Amino acid sequence: MKILIPTKLDKSAAAALTAAGYEVVQDDTTPLEELVAAHADAAGLIVRSEKVPAAIIDRMPALKCVIRAGAGYDNIDYVYARTKGIDVMNTPGANANAVAEEVVAMVLAAYRYVIPADVTTRAGEWNKKQYMGRELTRKTVGILGLGNIGRMLVKRLQGFECTVLGYDHFLSKQRALNIGATPAELEEIFSTADIISIHVPGGPATKNMVDARLIGMMKDGAMLVNCARYGVVDEEALRAAKAAGKHIIYCTDVHPKDAAAQQPSADVAEVMLPHLGANTKEANKMAAVRAASQMAAYFAEGDTSCVVNAETPGDLNPAHLRMAALLGKLCYHAGGCKPIRKIECTFYNNLRSFRKWFTPWILQGAVPGAEQGLMPAAAEASLREHGIVFKAREPMDDKLYDDSLTLDLFMEEDGEQIKTSVRGMVVDGEPVVSRIDDFNHLYASLTGNTLVLRYADRPGVIATIGQILSQSGINIDNIVAPLDAKSGDSLAVVKTNKPVDDELVELIARAIGAKRAFALSL
Ligand code: 3PG
Repeated sequence: MKILIPTKLDKSAAAALTAAGYEVVQDDTTPLEELVAAHADAAGLIVRSEKVPAAIIDRMPALKCVIRAGAGYDNIDYVYARTKGIDVMNTPGANANAVAEEVVAMVLAAYRYVIPADVTTRAGEWNKKQYMGRELTRKTVGILGLGNIGRMLVKRLQGFECTVLGYDHFLSKQRALNIGATPAELEEIFSTADIISIHVPGGPATKNMVDARLIGMMKDGAMLVNCARYGVVDEEALRAAKAAGKHIIYCTDVHPKDAAAQQPSADVAEVMLPHLGANTKEANKMAAVRAASQMAAYFAEGDTSCVVNAETPGDLNPAHLRMAALLGKLCYHAGGCKPIRKIECTFYNNLRSFRKWFTPWILQGAVPGAEQGLMPAAAEASLREHGIVFKAREPMDDKLYDDSLTLDLFMEEDGEQIKTSVRGMVVDGEPVVSRIDDFNHLYASLTGNTLVLRYADRPGVIATIGQILSQSGINIDNIVAPLDAKSGDSLAVVKTNKPVDDELVELIARAIGAKRAFALSL
């Protein structure tokens, strides 16, 4: 079996795979297009930042597995790879220390003017007064993204006695605290931190994440470090802020292309490096060793534990994903189908560890016309494009719920954001809604024809509903109508054997004086 390594990766990967009986071709000088043409029979491909678009994948019909020897895999068209049954992996954590150390190096270099001081001293100048520096020790550092790199940076900063604030969409508050970072929202980080370092993945979900608004909140003299991906910082906004007199120190090692060119950040960056984050002998070796062992375990044992483009994790019950989409649709209708401005979710119990996989399903359920079947990052990006803020809340410790999801939609009505909230779970393999707003203990099926009516609780209402439906030849399969003692209202969720059309909904709503009425087929 042939493995192609078209990159400057430590030779230990090729050595290990050759010893395991694979035919390995490593060549970091020939262009990738030429290499794949010559080795179209390769079943495995190991790359660093080299681009692997659909066109390359198409030229490798025998390809089964692509390994990104590194962290970010946005250089590989992993979604297209999935459609061809190709597994894509990264080597998580292999270069985390190298990147964390690079951040510390850049911060210290910028604080102490290491680069200009070296240049000018060599040139015979003596600029001691001009280069009055600052110290990293005991500074407040904000870290965006507490993955392997962010966490390693927390560790390294502990040696400098820094106060570390962490922002991470997917990490629980407790987990962040355990790592040593105080969880904080972006606004708090940008308005209080002396140094902000970015460690989120690139791509549409994080494009211009650091925008004019956040840049505007930064303290005068604060530092922004981007060793993650080009595009996460809106450099146009940074340029404008600096031109307007805001003093921000910007360190970057990311560029539109990893290639020689006049880099667009040159005029706004105090320190800029050619994507050197992972470029240490140690990290290169570690990534090579990991890539080789992952590739061998993949082909020999079918080990897919590091696959990043799996459809969904095998141990996630598909009924929970369906539930998320159905809850989204129900919530959208319950709130009156108004423009959605914000979605907040709480994932309970085992669902917490799978929360990113729910984003595409929530998107396709709640947002009419949204794309279906997106990968989690693309779904997040799509929500942003729809102008919807998406937030996964931390479950409250005192709520010992089973596997379940609370979904709140904030829809705009007359310039105000009105919240509609639903909760769901899976019972006997079927998704059910257990709460709509303040109406608890519904446990109504999330499939089939559903009529929902809110009314002032009094005797005889259910009978009226049943009577009008029966006059139209519609049978009630199931009905629940819990009371909300606070408002004195009941909410009837009626499952019917046939769809209830708008005219009939209107008729029933008038007959019972409904405060809210809608029907939908889930
Ligand atoms: C990564 O995502 O691992 C880093 O960006 C390193 O990229 P490199 O392997 O091209 O140095």
